[in-house]
Amino acid sequence: ADGKYLGDWKAGEKLAQSGRGLTWTDKADTANGGNCYNCHQMDPKEISFGTIGPSLTGYGKTRGVIADPTSPASKAIIEYTWGKIWNAKAYNACSVMPRAVHKGIITEAQAKDLMALLLDPKSPVNK
Ligand code: HEC
Repeated sequence: ADGKYLGDWKAGEKLAQSGRGLTWTDKADTANGGNCYNCHQMDPKEISFGTIGPSLTGYGKTRGVIADPTSPASKAIIEYTWGKIWNAKAYNACSVMPRAVHKGIITEAQAKDLMALLLDPKSPVNK
């Protein structure tokens, strides 16, 4: 809503690691995790990750966003990544990736923190 896509990658890393939320033992009023590591490799130093989704290691670097964050190509990648996190099925109707924000699993602010994990030059994903 405010045109800013990147939050705090450190908060994003915690979220990506957390699979908590939406089970009968989770309190309804606590924030849910993003559960990203269950399907994706992200920080190359993390040895525990699932492989249902593609590796996202070096995500911002390999897609050129780190080299030139303001180029039209980077803008397209930033918007695509935002859309993918918001509603994975909008890009691939048969995706097994959760529709994280669309379904209210995570908030818009949490999506920004995950964006930073993928696209911030300081994030371990891009080291
Ligand atoms: C249940 C498994 C699963 C979970 C959990 C999951 N993903 Fe995915 N993700 C996938 C799969 C499978 C794909 C590739 C197929 C597709 O496009 O949906 C994908 C694709 C992506 C892509 C696009 C990659 C590219 O190169 O185009 C991004 C970005 C992404 N996921 C980020 C995330 C983030 C961030 C989280 C945590 C909020 C997450 N994913 C959680 C399974 C998952």
